[in-house]
Amino acid sequence: MAKLKWGMIGGGEGSQIGPAHRLGAGLDGAFEFAAGALDHRAEQGRAYGQRLGLDADRAYGDWREMLAGEAARDDRVDLVTVATPNATHFEITKAFLEAGFHVLCEKPMTMTVAEGEEIVRLSESSGRICAVNYGYSGYSLVRHMKAMVARGDLGGVRLVKAEFAHGHHADAADADNPRVRWRYDPAQAGVSAQFADCGIHALHMASFVIGQEATRLSADTVSCIASRVLEDDAMVNLRFDGGAVGRLWTSSVALGRQHGLTLQVFGEKGGLRWSQEHPNQLYWMPLNGRLEVIERGAGGLSPEADRTSRVTVGHAEGMPLAFANIYADLAEAIRAEKEDRAMDPAADLYPRASDGLRSMAAVFAVAESGKSDGAWVDARPPMYR
Ligand code: NAI
Repeated sequence: MAKLKWGMIGGGEGSQIGPAHRLGAGLDGAFEFAAGALDHRAEQGRAYGQRLGLDADRAYGDWREMLAGEAARDDRVDLVTVATPNATHFEITKAFLEAGFHVLCEKPMTMTVAEGEEIVRLSESSGRICAVNYGYSGYSLVRHMKAMVARGDLGGVRLVKAEFAHGHHADAADADNPRVRWRYDPAQAGVSAQFADCGIHALHMASFVIGQEATRLSADTVSCIASRVLEDDAMVNLRFDGGAVGRLWTSSVALGRQHGLTLQVFGEKGGLRWSQEHPNQLYWMPLNGRLEVIERGAGGLSPEADRTSRVTVGHAEGMPLAFANIYADLAEAIRAEKEDRAMDPAADLYPRASDGLRSMAAVFAVAESGKSDGAWVDARPPMYR
């Protein structure tokens, strides 16, 4: 089967997330890295692209040059990943969708709810995929949690508790460092800092696993480091459309926490606990039973878990392989379209533009509620009310 062609914008040398995308996209041999505009500095981007193996004429100096160059080719890229800083996502994603490319956009997909709605409408009207990289939803045991909830192992979900708390911005003496300061400055970061950066991962994971969307929320947002305008810690209470209650904590001053993304789901018949720093174990407590540890790669798991598990039980899989599962879903979606057939339903789990839009609505709801002493507010984007 011919490889699909993949391009990337952002993710240049030294970037945080670029390598995980290249590992993820390359893992299954479904995509060939064919084009890129990798850096905001044209020459560095061209040079790095060529060092990574791109042909000189497809190692572009900026994304507009890449758009023009790829649109003019018969062998244009099948999928473009946008991994630039947040404020550029909307413009680049919109331009590539309009030109007929499928896009995987980093989170947050946009900076406003209106932009999010525009991307959803554009993706729907053009028939182009716009996926959003909630990459942690690609973990095999996260897929298994979703399958367990969907097949009724837990009964009705009563409570979901999600956390994404780290301590990497806890140093008050470092708060003025330009690399940290911009994140808490509304002029550069928008209406929210920590919730928009990390809280939306936790919220997406909660919704993904329980199969319910947030409808209302109440938020307590604080700047533990007083010089910060935007929040570095938030506690958010939620209600979901299937009746579940949500509790979500996100923080950047939680010293001792590293990545800190965890999910607990409590249902009528059992409870689940999973943590991103130990992604190969899932804790399952059946009602009136005994606590069990479910190992990734063990026999007897769901088809969704089997499909996304690659090395044998007992050997650790980590974040780039979770990203690889998002790329595997997208490869299947793109191939199904090319071959004019239905896609494998077990692969139809990649996060959509609608998820990116719901996140944006939640970001604005958290900011609004936080400013009004935790008032309950609508968490849905206008187009889904
Ligand atoms: P970074 O600052 O480490 O790297 C950004 C890269 O984009 C740099 O190579 C820079 O030269 C390049 N760039 C900037 N403007 C560009 C432009 N106009 N055209 C082409 N290249 C450009 O940023 P990082 O941490 O890699 O984050 C990038 C995005 O990924 C952000 O939106 C962030 O929220 C998201 N992210 C997502 C994660 C996830 O788990 N899904 C984890 C970390 C980041």
